Amino acid sequence: MNTKILVTGATGNFGKTTIDFLLKKGIAASNISALVRDEAKAADLNAKGITLKIGDYDNYESLLAAFQGIDKLLLVSGTDLANRSKQQLAAVKAAKEAGVKHILYTSFERKNESDSSPIAFLAKSHIDTDTAIKASGMKYTIFRNNLYLDVLPMFLGEKVLVTGIYFPAGETAAAYVSRNDLAEAVATVLITEGHENKEYGMNNVENYSMQEIADTLSKITNTSVHYLSPDPKDYEAVLTQAGVPGEYIGMFVGFAEAIKQGEFQAESSDLEKLLGRKPITLEVFLKQVYSK
Ligand SMILES: NC(=O)c1ccc[n+]([C@@H]2O[C@H](COP(=O)([O-])OP(=O)(O)OC[C@H]3O[C@@H](n4cnc5c(N)ncnc54)[C@H](OP(=O)(O)O)[C@@H]3O)[C@@H](O)[C@H]2O)c1
Repeated sequence: MNTKILVTGATGNFGKTTIDFLLKKGIAASNISALVRDEAKAADLNAKGITLKIGDYDNYESLLAAFQGIDKLLLVSGTDLANRSKQQLAAVKAAKEAGVKHILYTSFERKNESDSSPIAFLAKSHIDTDTAIKASGMKYTIFRNNLYLDVLPMFLGEKVLVTGIYFPAGETAAAYVSRNDLAEAVATVLITEGHENKEYGMNNVENYSMQEIADTLSKITNTSVHYLSPDPKDYEAVLTQAGVPGEYIGMFVGFAEAIKQGEFQAESSDLEKLLGRKPITLEVFLKQVYSK
């Protein structure tokens, strides 16, 4: 079977890792294409024999050309939050027009889909994209990715081992997952059958609170890491004082509040089944980052 697969966001972490898993799982490089907007950032992909398609979510014609002859398209969500809905709807439309048979999308886990969600600024584009994909008539698989474990160091700050955790997420836990595990599972879905018109909850099998994160950090680094969940207004003031750019502050406050409201708390996971093993735990992840 010579299914032609295209992965977008291939110069980014998720896309690149997914491609590496496809190769590891025995898919020939000649059956894999990568959508990249800057060829210079894709020398490694080129060296592996991956076909580079130059395209940008903002350029419909480039997407239409890139998606010709593709059977399965992995649409990795973009980074331009202000324009993401428009960009991804264009990608879905181009996929349909180009004759893509099966579209797979890295969406995100959530409960509150209304404008009252503290992360509505990024949720809306995922919801719009999920809706367009389901209405497109193409076969689809939607991955409801939980928060990456990999974003934790950003939430915790560079000096966490000295200052402790100062983050307004309260006591609510979230089913953080490693990006690597997500990419491995997505690669499996790309190359196996039975995933048509499915929506998968991509969550860890355990939920972790900030207090547990502090305790785990204390244990693995043999230090004492405290957790304080401040009032969001105080948190904003401290970040502003420290010179953190406004858009990042808004994002951190929004994610903290969403965690506190239980948006990322999940009791079920398809990820373990897709991986055929348990996803890596908080402790294993934190050891990789903090215990050298
Ligand atoms: N669940 C979570 O906790 C979490 C955390 C962070 C991000 N995310 C989402 O997951 C996605 C993948 O994560 P990641 O770590 O791989 O992010 P990443 O390393 O920043 O990669 C994003 C990729 O999207 C590409 N891209 C952005 N705008 C584009 C456009 N207009 N046209 C074509 N390509 C475009 C980038 O291309 P360039 O290399 O050219 O910039 C890059 O390849 C992110 O984009 C974001 O939507 C989820």
